Amino acid sequence: MDMVHTILNLLLPPLTIILLFMFFPFYLLIKLVSCIYKHLCFENVAGKVVLITGASSGIGENVAYEYAKKGACLALVARRKDRLEIVAETLRQLGSRDVIIIPGDVSNLDDCKMFIDETIHHFGKLDHLINNAGVPQAIIFEDFTQIQDANHIMDINFWGSTYISYFAIPHLRKSKGKIVVISSATANIPLPLASIYSASKAALLKFYETLRVEISPDIRITIAIPGFVSTDLTTPHFIKMVSNSNILYKLIYICHILIYVCFLEKCSMVQISSFRNQ
Ligand SMILES: NC(=O)c1ccc[n+]([C@@H]2O[C@H](COP(=O)([O-])OP(=O)(O)OC[C@H]3O[C@@H](n4cnc5c(N)ncnc54)[C@H](OP(=O)(O)O)[C@@H]3O)[C@@H](O)[C@H]2O)c1
Repeated sequence: MDMVHTILNLLLPPLTIILLFMFFPFYLLIKLVSCIYKHLCFENVAGKVVLITGASSGIGENVAYEYAKKGACLALVARRKDRLEIVAETLRQLGSRDVIIIPGDVSNLDDCKMFIDETIHHFGKLDHLINNAGVPQAIIFEDFTQIQDANHIMDINFWGSTYISYFAIPHLRKSKGKIVVISSATANIPLPLASIYSASKAALLKFYETLRVEISPDIRITIAIPGFVSTDLTTPHFIKMVSNSNILYKLIYICHILIYVCFLEKCSMVQISSFRNQ
């Protein structure tokens, strides 16, 4: 037995290196071809119908602008009707072929059905669903006066996305469409004062990973995992979180940002680009 181990110890390391050198060029070639293929197959979204939740500000608003520049038709969902009207006007100027606004609350089941029904009634189809609406948390778990005060975070961030996907799936199947969901880096990295928020984002991640297995290839799913993006959701809350927290939490926030900058930004870029390329 010792003899076998000695031979393996002598043979395996050089053999592994030789095999690596033999196959690595083929691996790079395959990567290059798939990269070129993805860039050639860039989806033309002109005329496609895109429903975006949380389109009244931040990431959702900016995603809407990108679609509008490419000539997509847009259905915008959020609670603030006045903000949606301003965004819709800008989208028309940017080149969107048609824009409707559907004010409502994603945590309300009837509203979610209404978002899809009105989109189908107006445009006749749905190609992309962007599940983006979300609310933050900036309170330590044990400081909730009543634990039920945390329910709305899960209701909006998780159920709000799940309900609307449920009503959208039959239409997305017909159009061979896609769902894009905005999770968060906090789904993977613990962030103090954001326990329920992080749980809601981790739940989204697992839900859509499973749904992807159930509904692909008819409907494709892209899960974006952004780190820190300065928006209405983060900037005021983050400043409050950092200023109100102890030195340990301050250090954790700094580590969180560093991990994001060094590692997760690359992951997010890969996932966002897969969203653009699919
Ligand atoms: N910013 C970041 O650093 C970051 C990082 C990771 C993930 N994210 C995620 O990205 C998404 C967008 O966040 P953001 O940073 O762009 O924040 P934001 O500017 O505050 O946008 C949140 C959007 O969600 C909408 N919304 C909130 N509750 C809603 C409800 N019950 N029904 C319908 N719409 C609702 C808001 O509109 P109304 O108030 O008008 O309803 C708003 O349009 C969120 O899911 C967030 O968790 C953000």
